[in-house]
Amino acid sequence: MAGVSRRNTRDKTISAGKSPNYDNAANTRTRKSAARGRRGFNRIVTSTFAILLSIGIVLITIGFFMKNYFINPAKETVKPRVVTPLPAPKLMDLPMFQGEHKESLYWGTYRPHVYFGIRARTPQSLLAGLMWLGVKDGRYVMRHVCQDSDELATYGWTHHNGRDYGRQVLVDQKLVLTTSFLKSKEKDSGYGGDWAVRIEAQSEVLNEEMEEIAHLFFYVADEEGTALGLGNGASDDPDDFLLAFGSRNDVGNWELHLESKENFEFHYSGFKTHNIHNLSELVQTNLAIQARTTGRFQLSDTSDHASNILVFQVSAMIPFKADVAFVTKSSGSTSRLKERIRSLTGDSLSSHLEQKQEQFDNKFQRCFDMSDEINPEAVIVAKAALGNLLGGVGYFYGQSKISLPPSSKLVPGDNYISYWPAELYTAVPSRPFFPRGFLWDEGFHQLLIWKWDANISLDIIGHWLDLMNADGWIPREQILGAEALSKVPSEFVLQHPTNGNPPTLFLVLREFVCSIKKDKFSASQINDISTFLRRAFVRLDAWYKWFNTTQSGKEAGTYFWHGRDNVTTRELNPKSLSSGLDDYPRASHPSEDERHVDLRCWMHLAADCMSSISEFLEDSHIGKEYSLTAKLLSNFDLLNQIHLDNTSGAYSDYGIHTEKVRLSWQMVESAGGHPSRELLREVLEKPVLRLVPHIGYVSLFPFMSRLIPADSWILEKQLHLISDTTTLWTKFGLRSLSKTSSVYMQRNTEHDPPYWRGPIWMNMNYMILSALNYYSQVDGPYQDRAKIIYTDLRNNLIQNVVKNYKQTGFLWEQYDQKKGKGKGARLFTGWTSLIVLIMAESYSEC
Ligand SMILES: *[C@@H]1O[C@H](CO)[C@@H](O)[C@H](O)[C@H]1NC(C)=O
Ligand SMILES: *[C@@H]1O[C@H](CO)[C@@H](O)[C@H](O)[C@H]1NC(C)=O
Ligand SMILES: *[C@@H]1O[C@H](CO)[C@@H](O)[C@H](O)[C@H]1NC(C)=O
Ligand SMILES: *[C@@H]1O[C@H](CO)[C@@H](O)[C@H](O)[C@H]1NC(C)=O
Ligand SMILES: *[C@@H]1O[C@H](CO)[C@@H](O)[C@H](O)[C@H]1NC(C)=O
Repeated sequence: MAGVSRRNTRDKTISAGKSPNYDNAANTRTRKSAARGRRGFNRIVTSTFAILLSIGIVLITIGFFMKNYFINPAKETVKPRVVTPLPAPKLMDLPMFQGEHKESLYWGTYRPHVYFGIRARTPQSLLAGLMWLGVKDGRYVMRHVCQDSDELATYGWTHHNGRDYGRQVLVDQKLVLTTSFLKSKEKDSGYGGDWAVRIEAQSEVLNEEMEEIAHLFFYVADEEGTALGLGNGASDDPDDFLLAFGSRNDVGNWELHLESKENFEFHYSGFKTHNIHNLSELVQTNLAIQARTTGRFQLSDTSDHASNILVFQVSAMIPFKADVAFVTKSSGSTSRLKERIRSLTGDSLSSHLEQKQEQFDNKFQRCFDMSDEINPEAVIVAKAALGNLLGGVGYFYGQSKISLPPSSKLVPGDNYISYWPAELYTAVPSRPFFPRGFLWDEGFHQLLIWKWDANISLDIIGHWLDLMNADGWIPREQILGAEALSKVPSEFVLQHPTNGNPPTLFLVLREFVCSIKKDKFSASQINDISTFLRRAFVRLDAWYKWFNTTQSGKEAGTYFWHGRDNVTTRELNPKSLSSGLDDYPRASHPSEDERHVDLRCWMHLAADCMSSISEFLEDSHIGKEYSLTAKLLSNFDLLNQIHLDNTSGAYSDYGIHTEKVRLSWQMVESAGGHPSRELLREVLEKPVLRLVPHIGYVSLFPFMSRLIPADSWILEKQLHLISDTTTLWTKFGLRSLSKTSSVYMQRNTEHDPPYWRGPIWMNMNYMILSALNYYSQVDGPYQDRAKIIYTDLRNNLIQNVVKNYKQTGFLWEQYDQKKGKGKGARLFTGWTSLIVLIMAESYSEC
């Protein structure tokens, strides 16, 4: 009863002069019935238009071919090699990725860059998503695309199984939104099944009566541009509301329903546009125009002809709860549809969600089996880390832009050429900041994901390997489609086909292979994995050979990251973006004489993994080549000859180097003849060929790769470098660069603050921890020492990540080495989520 009276009070509050048609589910329905006739007309117009359009396209196409044929028959045909796919069967065409597997992953929360978004794994999908009005500096602003400037106190998936269930909490000042996602496949549903979204708006203070209205906007948009039907709300259930309907080739007929037992004000708007990526602006503009004429924030209740985007506004007093159900019907009867809607809303949805949450918790326990020493607070962080990594998995479609060498005259005037149109299903490092695929991050993501769901992991790895070109190269940052492009600064858009990126996918492939050896998989899983590896092999081989030829150094068994700028006058130490470690200091003067110890270790990992895969596939011919290469690269004496500084016991890069480099302000004459002050690099001493004396993550690669014998004095030195507070040790994890380095915490240019020159990064800490764990388990004189350091480092990392999460509501890209404070991009549930494996003490056993 209390509920009823509260509801009445609220009605009064809002009706008080603010809304002539509040509490107007009925009103709105009437209004929309009138709209229906117009839609019938729209459809006729649309189909006439479609016919004309098709004729047009046919004519244009014919014209195009004629032109090419008669004017320049050769021009169109030969594609440059760099944008030619590797001529090998695609992994994603394997039967294991078709059928039930593919369908089960069809719909998902695959739009990580928005606060809440749904799409299907198809190039031109039906999209859905949520926006709401937030307040900034006393003004309303639309929340839609994840961005730091919205200053949400926290958000992210607290649970998500990567498949059919997720729960996200978003805190925007006093408003707490919870978005739950559920998928269900019934006998009568169309391809991909049905899904439901529950949106709950509450006050941050529990049980507080918030005399405030939440304005929520739920939208559907068809990327194909097909017109959507606007629902008329007709239903015999007073709480059920038909929002929209339509038909697609992939899923068949569909309907979108809204269900809420509470009072709300309802408005809508329909738009026809292909620029779905600026939907926020469209809605904002529509609202602003209405606000000017009516003084209220409400959509116009109008729709463009043949709208392919429909936005529904639900405004209601907080607390408020609404369910949105998307149902598809291939052939099912109406009554079954009703049943399914009922099952995906209200109490039935509540119980489904509870059940899924329980299953998530149980599976989490099974997969990560954390000891009691991990407190409940830390477990919550671990679940949020995994949840948002899985909930952040996205699907992208588009063409990378590949930079052309200056000598190329292929397309005069253009500095790039487009890769072939490709799809990518991948996890992302950070939803607000890096909502797209990054090659080197992905291997770390998979270390976690394969433990949770090996099928998802293989699907992701398969997508990445299918992006390989005829040379065996994979673009490192995947900016696919207009939405992705709109978030990337222009200098990072072009991908350079001469540059690599650590082949981290071998980290997880190695786990697959050795887990088979250790009998950790069922027969059907082994079958899938072997099929996968068999087909992947030619790609992995091409990938290896690309590195082994294009990134090799002068001497056998040496490698360096190609593509460093050897003429820059601005960088303190020219960056090696391709290494993944951006500004980590290398030789001061990039040259062909360089040797990078990290790349050598990546090459060892890859060769060793290829050797195991060949053995597993019983391909002894190629296997021999790899086992020889792996042997060469793990040869301890050779490694030491090339990379060891035998006084400090540290491994180093080698190259033309001097320590006497600095940035200073200088007066320079600009093009117009005006003098200006610029921060330029000064070299105060002639550089010479030598070992590069910086100590940091790169120096520890042979240790991470377990290439050091357990009884070697060098191991003792390495343990010292790790545990010494004057070099790498902090209470919060290991620094990226030693305090003793000449460029420790130095800016690289006026605009480049230190990145990998001090702060603590989780991926490298995980690798080091894994090696410490290994050396604490093999017999040797330093075993106990390794164990102590392992335990301390692990505790420090866990405590600091958990503390930061508690204080800030986020996992972070890096952590400050002085105070442990989270830095860089937030909601960084890419490799920072390796903290889950650290809590579970789950490391490579290969
Ligand atoms: C929408 O996107 C298109 C294409 O990117 C752009 O030209 C246009 O200015 C955008 N419109 C708004 C309102 O942002
Ligand atoms: C993938 O899923 C199928 C069907 O559920 C299962 O039989 C198979 O073992 C799974 N494969 C892996 C690698 O987990
Ligand atoms: C820079 O590198 C390029 C390519 O390796 C080389 O041709 C050029 O001579 C180098 N320039 C300097 C100043 O070292
Ligand atoms: C890698 O390159 C080296 C040097 O050219 C060669 O000896 C070795 O066989 C190559 N390894 C593989 C696996 O291709
Ligand atoms: C260190 O290397 C130098 C030069 O290669 C060699 O002469 C010296 O014997 C080495 N010292 C040790 C301790 O291995």
